[in-house]
Amino acid sequence: MTKPFRRAALAALLLGVSAVAVQAEMMAPTAPPEAPKFDAQGEPIYVNRADIYEFKALPAYSEPAWVKAFVDAGKLPPVAERLPKEPLVYKTANMPDGNGVYGDVMRHVIGGRPEGWNFWAGQSYGWGGIDIGLVECLTRTGPLFQVNAADLQPLPNLARSWEWAADGKSLTVHLIEGAKWSDGDPFDTEDIDFYWNDIVMDPDATPLMGASQETYGAGTTLDIIDAYTFKMNFQTAFPESVLYAMAYGNFCPGPAHVLKPAHPKYGGKDYQSFHDAFPADMMNFPTMGAWAVVEHRPDDIVVTRRNAYYWKVDEAGQQLPYLDEVHFRLSTWGDRDVQAVAGTGDFSNLEQPENFVESLKKAAEEASPARLAFGPRSIGYQLFFNLSGNGWGEPDARGQAVRELNRSLDFRKAVTYAIDRQRIGDSLVKGPFTSQYAGGLLTSTSYYDAGSTVFYPFSTESAKEALAAAGLTDSDGNGFVNLAGGDDLNVTLLTNADYATDKNIAEGVVAMMADVGVKVTLNSLGGKDYDNARESGKHDWYIRRNDQEFVSVVQGVNRLAPTGPAISTWHYANAAGELDLLPYEQQMVDAIAAFNGTQDAAVRGDAMKAYQKTFTENVNAVGLTAYPGALIINKRFANIPAGAPIFMYNWAEDNIIRERVYVPADKQIGAELHPGELPGKLGEATVKAE
Ligand code: GLA
Repeated sequence: MTKPFRRAALAALLLGVSAVAVQAEMMAPTAPPEAPKFDAQGEPIYVNRADIYEFKALPAYSEPAWVKAFVDAGKLPPVAERLPKEPLVYKTANMPDGNGVYGDVMRHVIGGRPEGWNFWAGQSYGWGGIDIGLVECLTRTGPLFQVNAADLQPLPNLARSWEWAADGKSLTVHLIEGAKWSDGDPFDTEDIDFYWNDIVMDPDATPLMGASQETYGAGTTLDIIDAYTFKMNFQTAFPESVLYAMAYGNFCPGPAHVLKPAHPKYGGKDYQSFHDAFPADMMNFPTMGAWAVVEHRPDDIVVTRRNAYYWKVDEAGQQLPYLDEVHFRLSTWGDRDVQAVAGTGDFSNLEQPENFVESLKKAAEEASPARLAFGPRSIGYQLFFNLSGNGWGEPDARGQAVRELNRSLDFRKAVTYAIDRQRIGDSLVKGPFTSQYAGGLLTSTSYYDAGSTVFYPFSTESAKEALAAAGLTDSDGNGFVNLAGGDDLNVTLLTNADYATDKNIAEGVVAMMADVGVKVTLNSLGGKDYDNARESGKHDWYIRRNDQEFVSVVQGVNRLAPTGPAISTWHYANAAGELDLLPYEQQMVDAIAAFNGTQDAAVRGDAMKAYQKTFTENVNAVGLTAYPGALIINKRFANIPAGAPIFMYNWAEDNIIRERVYVPADKQIGAELHPGELPGKLGEATVKAE
């Protein structure tokens, strides 16, 4: 007999009615409802990883004529000396439109704001593809949407190759040799050493996307072998997830030559001054990315210019990127859609359904400057419960009472039964876009299995029944259930204020919870404040647009459950480092370990089925809605890969491989703000050839 059934039976006995009658009121879970049919527009052309690029020397290299003028003026070494011995070479056959030509600008619009350039101390650049363009990582996963399933593994990048020891307990990684930062300083294991020892392993350093030792597996260590080789040592054999943890978000080393002197271990004053050492108005922060920041006008624009030391080329030997400049207009996420369809911006991930109909209408017009293509249903929202019962986020008595309720299955069931997912979806957009999301893995991952997905249908009666089973009744008759002490239960729901969609979904949840007698108060915070509140446990519940792990599984798999003290944002350890996992959470952790512990595809599939069953049956989070997003991109750009999803292993800003995107000469719009200029020295102005 399951615990909730026992409780219901007991409640029924006390009330003097039959247990069967009470059970009849709580609806049985069902299979998840079929999603409305909505075909992705444009299928990827599937290839193997080696078809996209390789590392090799070419007989000769070239660069834009205006960059060559710097060389001629003695201001820049020749291109062959700026490139690595064997640069990363994009294969022409994999380029949708072939080798490109130089020039022009991509005009992004973003809703975030750069806080400063110390990503490794937790500063956000403002998202929307700005950080993706500035930090390069050891491996790369964005373009994997077009890779054959049989060859699915991260692409090399700054790590050009790697090999496992025979027992799988260590991995030797070879860096690209002779690549340089945008200021000409060599990229080598000094950068790896600093990232590992002084960021990841330093408990006082807080990198932006939270990488810690657990990200690479508990107990993992790293040894530097020589200038271009290092070795990682693991507690388990063949932890393939490490290769994904080396992709965007985590193992993206910073320039040790400028970061180190500001770090407390090497003479920097303290961690706060390390954090603040590279403010948003400091230009030319060294990057391994294709463009470096040369101008920032607060609340207006960030301008980035081509990195003359970029280490990637095409098969003709042309140094990449093709685009000389990339803009990030500092506006709102909603405005990104509006500007992209209007042609004043060039790119948008159409991800807020409130804008779907208008954008579709505009893009369908003959004269539309932009093309719009929907991809898979990879955007999903869930409501998460703070599941720490032992003090994470230091709750007061009210907060602690909510935490204890969150840890009760009856209570979580009450919440899921209370949610009318159809209504939530329809409130965002009518039509075949949104689907009722059971929670956990999204239908767009190959690991999704409907048979392992438990769906609690919308039923206010069942919700009320589950509340009673959790011991909550409306003792003062004011329409809201009360805590044992007498006060109304009042739950704070943390949401992201930067997106209309988050706000609309959250308001729907508040209304639906009120309908079953649970008072919910919104705490709507913008950008970094939202992330900080979430990551510090200062919340009862939060609503969140899914990260990669729920869409791809492999990218960020360790975040799918509390596999470490600070890894899945609904349940961190308390200040003493104790993680009070519920038994079902432990089962999810075990499923992730089983997934990571084998390379056998069938066993991995089964592990994910077990994970999904445990997640959804126990309402680890409440799935709210899932829908497809569309990539909107100006028609003048060439080399946009077919079927690029806005979100899968990474965001489209990575998926479309921007350094390979170009604009044919007759379509260039002449929108450069710094023509003829290259990034200069850190903190100084740009430079010109003469
Ligand atoms: C934000 C946007 C996404 C995407 C990412 C890239 O989260 O909402 O569409 O641009 O930034 O990091």
